[in-house]
Amino acid sequence: MNFKDLCQARYSCRKYQALPIENDKLEYIRECVRLAPSAVNRQPWRFVLVDNSQPELFSLVKATYHRDWIDSVPAIILCMKNEAECWTRRYDDKPHADIDLAIAIEHLCLAATEQGLATCWVCNFDINQFHDTISQFPGLEPVALVPIGYAADEAPQKLRKDMADVWK
Ligand SMILES: Cc1cc2nc3c(=O)[nH]c(=O)nc-3n(C[C@H](O)[C@H](O)[C@H](O)COP(=O)(O)O)c2cc1C
Repeated sequence: MNFKDLCQARYSCRKYQALPIENDKLEYIRECVRLAPSAVNRQPWRFVLVDNSQPELFSLVKATYHRDWIDSVPAIILCMKNEAECWTRRYDDKPHADIDLAIAIEHLCLAATEQGLATCWVCNFDINQFHDTISQFPGLEPVALVPIGYAADEAPQKLRKDMADVWK
């Protein structure tokens, strides 16, 4: 699959099969995430895969996203930033951890797609509920929850702005 086909194939999957993910595929994805660039190479990220092997934590994580479809996901990758580690631009004090995380998370999603897996970026989770109910990750702030597994739906048509509206 060339890169354009990979970009076309990745989509936000909201319906998953109850199938386990092979370890070699997870290792491949982990390595693709590890190789992501970051400002001043600070790599201010931690990733944790949560599934039914930690049922209590898995339930608490899923409960922070108030949509029924999250119940069917076989695993979720917590994508967390450590702002204390990230590079901050001195001209305007802008921390770059969110940008760093976004790159690594998209590596995750594209690598998963290449491996025949499906993902979905989820940022619309209740961050306050997360901090109130989950204490395992001091100093870390979740940026996105990424469900991962085998899709149980079909990729929808890509809806994107026209080229002329995007590239000037
Ligand atoms: C930063 C970000 C946050 C997102 N948060 C959510 C979310 O909370 N819930 C959800 O269902 N989809 C979420 N999405 C998925 C977008 O809705 C989706 O990427 C967009 O509609 C384009 O569709 P596609 O990913 O299938 O190409 C998010 C995507 C991004 C990049």
